[in-house]
Amino acid sequence: MRLVVISNRLPVTVEGGENEVSFRQSTGGLVQGLSASLDSLKDYTKEAEYVWVGWPGTNIKEELQEKVRKDLQKNFRALPIFIDENEMTGFYLGFCNSTIWPLFHMIPSFATYSDKYFEDYVNVNKKFADTVSNILRDDDIVWIHDYHLMLLPQFLREKKDVPIGFFLHIPFPPFEIYRLLPKQWRASILKGVLGSDVIGFHTYTYMQNFIRTCEKTLGIESEFGKFKVDNRIISVGVFPISIDFEKYNRATENKSVKQEFENLKNTFKNEKVILSIDRLDYTKGVVNRLHAYEQFLEKNPGWHRKVCLVMILVPSRIGVYKYQETKNDIDQLVGSINGKFGAIDWTPIIYQFKNLPFESLTALYAKGDIILVTPIIDGMNLVSKEYIASHRDLNGVLILSECAGSAEELKKAIIVSPNDISEVADAIKRALEMTIEEKKSINKSLQDYLSKYDVKWWAGSFINKLMESHKEKIELEKKKDVNEIKSDMIKDYSMAQKRLFLLDYDGTLVNFSPKPELAKPPSNLVKILERLSKNTKNDVVILTGRDRETIGGWFRNPDIQIFAEHGAYLRQKGEKWIRMLPVENGWKEEIAHIIKIYESRVPASFTEMKDFSVVFHFRNAPEEVVQQEIPELYDVLKTLTSNTGIVVRKINKGIEVKSAMADKSIASLYFLREPYDFIFAAGDDSIDEGIFKNLPKRDVYSIKVGDGFTYANYRAKNPEEISLALKELSSIEYPKKPFWRRLVEIIKR
Ligand code: UDP
Ligand code: G6P
Repeated sequence: MRLVVISNRLPVTVEGGENEVSFRQSTGGLVQGLSASLDSLKDYTKEAEYVWVGWPGTNIKEELQEKVRKDLQKNFRALPIFIDENEMTGFYLGFCNSTIWPLFHMIPSFATYSDKYFEDYVNVNKKFADTVSNILRDDDIVWIHDYHLMLLPQFLREKKDVPIGFFLHIPFPPFEIYRLLPKQWRASILKGVLGSDVIGFHTYTYMQNFIRTCEKTLGIESEFGKFKVDNRIISVGVFPISIDFEKYNRATENKSVKQEFENLKNTFKNEKVILSIDRLDYTKGVVNRLHAYEQFLEKNPGWHRKVCLVMILVPSRIGVYKYQETKNDIDQLVGSINGKFGAIDWTPIIYQFKNLPFESLTALYAKGDIILVTPIIDGMNLVSKEYIASHRDLNGVLILSECAGSAEELKKAIIVSPNDISEVADAIKRALEMTIEEKKSINKSLQDYLSKYDVKWWAGSFINKLMESHKEKIELEKKKDVNEIKSDMIKDYSMAQKRLFLLDYDGTLVNFSPKPELAKPPSNLVKILERLSKNTKNDVVILTGRDRETIGGWFRNPDIQIFAEHGAYLRQKGEKWIRMLPVENGWKEEIAHIIKIYESRVPASFTEMKDFSVVFHFRNAPEEVVQQEIPELYDVLKTLTSNTGIVVRKINKGIEVKSAMADKSIASLYFLREPYDFIFAAGDDSIDEGIFKNLPKRDVYSIKVGDGFTYANYRAKNPEEISLALKELSSIEYPKKPFWRRLVEIIKR
């Protein structure tokens, strides 16, 4: 098995591109985290075999491309994708970093919307799909990274059916912000991501936002972090990225790091060092941080000459206007603070606009008495984790924005609101005055956490999940059609002494009709069930959401047992209907009142009132109105009924609101208390899955009607196949009567 890692940026950036090229390490959390994790994957892939596919970071002349390709393959296990400059501008500077980046970081006022950018985004994603599909082997697993490649999972799935994982390294915004994307882009991106088997986020908030956005945009539903789309299960999970703890923790053992550290100690003999280390980005909150430092200096003249802010800003996304603007603001502010407080022998801020190599960075981490990590918003933020790990003496203080993903893990740091300038200014003072005991106790616990949940854990748990879901998928695909196992079923039925039939009605025994009352059982079906239920070894139970009058009227024979209204009413063999649940229906009128408003907006819709449920049907309504009105109604009902005993669910062309206690899967337990040595259970709907899950492992023929995910053991294409199977079983102990007997019976009637 080989891991194919795909991200926009390769771990190395190619420089030059005219006649000569050189390679340097790329920057950014994605590359750092991912690079560190890959070697640890040997437990999962043979000899940690992997290839990293991505953009080499520069436009490379055609004549040089072959050489670059060879060098990257040989020295970095990388496969470059060359993209022409014009397309890359629309894709990278445009759609990725002028549309998605600001929008997903919840700064919609910075986002621009251009058809050309989106077109380039689609084309570049297609280019990635083409290149990757050419090298894909059958036993590869694919791990796609970040917002640049959100369409790729689907494009790739269309070409090759391998396990595909997707990880988003940035926040996923709430639906209300995501919705600012034009309609068609919105849906394409979600469908693109859903081409994966596993989708990972840094935090539960981002994951919840994604799930809700999919539900509201595409009208699909999730259950326990899983979407069931067509025949696939897509798992959504939280996997906070981290760092190679050991590497940072032991960095000062390295000779050159030690040397740099000693130099820093000499430089800052009389000053406490406050660090500020980020990629240039307006999300990082550098301007606010500078204002806070300024306020700290204003409020605390006693600290003048005793502190120095060492600020490293790594160049990034040159060419995007907002980045240049942020850089100008920062430059100006640094100049103004240094001018206001500085003196010949003291510079309050030492500022460098460059990328530091690992040795200088870790020496700085180790020397920094405090680090200010105060992003306005950040998907994760690895700098905060690296700082804690690098401070082996446990003598540093992390001041961390509550809006960084890492704040959900590093709760013991000084947590601040990045927009509260006074709070950050006071936090600096508090950090400077913190006792060594307090610092040690905090850092010890943060280091313990980071050493356990390191980058190996991140990658390992993601890949594990991907493998698990792949196994589940294979199991699902293996499920046989009921026709293929009939002879076994008939044999088991014949030998059994006590048999149970649990049968859903609509969609399972009969097809759906434009109006619910038209979906009457054909007389032959009624006869089959009568015949089966007459056999004293059999319990035949229909479990339906229908009201008891309708279903009881259709199946009058008292041998047939029925749970109506999802189990609220039971008609047992030879008995009258009994109510199984207490009545507490105060909510129904309120719900019906809301539904009525939508009934007036959706032509040809109607509301069905039952004792324990209200159902809104819109199967005959125009599709465009359904798409416009129904997601809203569904959302309103879900919100109003949350934390109550009421359940809202989508059914075939309808929405059902019912008491949570009226539940078929709970009702099925009523019969499953008894030991049966043959069980036949059939259903078509997600609600029937609860019944399948309740069934014992042995002597069971559970059958899902139609496509889609299921816990059932077998499948049937349509209700006719179920009827046929039931018919065959029903005739086993009742061999066909000879023709003359039947004729006599008819004449007698
Ligand atoms: N980094 C670096 N050189 C520097 C400053 C930072 O290589 O001069 C690295 C740092 O070690 C970290 C990454 O850049 O791993 C930044 O990741 P983070 O998650 O903090 O932010 P991102 O850049 O991904 O938004
Ligand atoms: C963030 C993104 C990464 C990106 C990095 C550097 O960490 O999540 O995908 O690689 O920033 O940005 P750049 O635009 O230089 O790749």
